[in-house]
Amino acid sequence: MNILTISCSLNPNSRSRMLSRFAVDRLTEAGVVASLIDLQDHPLPMCDAGVSYNHPSVEILSTAIQQAHAVVLGVPIYNYYANAAVKNLIELTGESWNGKIVGFLCAAGGQGSYMSVMNLANSLMLDFRCLIVPRFVYATKNDFADGQITSDKIKNRITELTTTTAMLAEAVGGRLPS
Ligand SMILES: Cc1cc2nc3c(=O)[nH]c(=O)nc-3n(C[C@H](O)[C@H](O)[C@H](O)COP(=O)(O)O)c2cc1C
Repeated sequence: MNILTISCSLNPNSRSRMLSRFAVDRLTEAGVVASLIDLQDHPLPMCDAGVSYNHPSVEILSTAIQQAHAVVLGVPIYNYYANAAVKNLIELTGESWNGKIVGFLCAAGGQGSYMSVMNLANSLMLDFRCLIVPRFVYATKNDFADGQITSDKIKNRITELTTTTAMLAEAVGGRLPS
C-alpha cells in the first residue's frame, strides 16, 4: 500500500503539518509505504478552469494522488471550512481523486468548527466516489506546545485514523471502482 499525506497549510508554523508528519511516521512504522507532500513546496495557481491546469505543480500533484492507494489530508480550518488551498488543490486535480480513500486531519483554533470538512468530504464523495475514512482527527491549539503535539488523545486518534485508512485501502485493493 502506498498512502500519501498532503499537508495543506501554507503557514510556516502550521499545526496541521505536525499532524501530517505524525501520521506519516505512524504509517511508516506500520510498514506502509507513506509519503508526505507539503503544499508549501508546490505553489499552485488559483483554479480558473483553464490554463491553471497546465501548471507544472498540478501535474506533479495529480500524479502523486493518482498513484496513491489512499490520501490523508492535513487541513487548517479557516472561516468554518477547510482552507482555500485544499479546495483549490481538489479543483485543480479533480479526476485524480476518483475512487480514492480519503482521511482528514484537522487543525483548528477551537472546538466550534468540528464539522468544517464536511463540505469537502461531500464533494469528494459525490464528484469522485471517494470513500471517506469514518475517523476524523480534530485538534485545537491546546493540543500543541513548543512545536509539538502534546495531547496523547490526538496522537491516539491519528494512529486510529492511519490504521483504519491502511485497513480500508488493503480491503478494497487500493482503489474503489469509479
Ligand atoms: C483566516 C483564518 C480563519 C480561521 N478560522 C477558524 C475557524 O473558523 N474556526 C477555528 O476553529 N479556527 C479558525 N482559525 C484558526 C486556525 O484553524 C488555527 O490557527 C489552525 O492551527 C490552522 O491550521 P495550521 O496551523 O495548520 O495552519 C482560523 C485562522 C485563520 C488564519
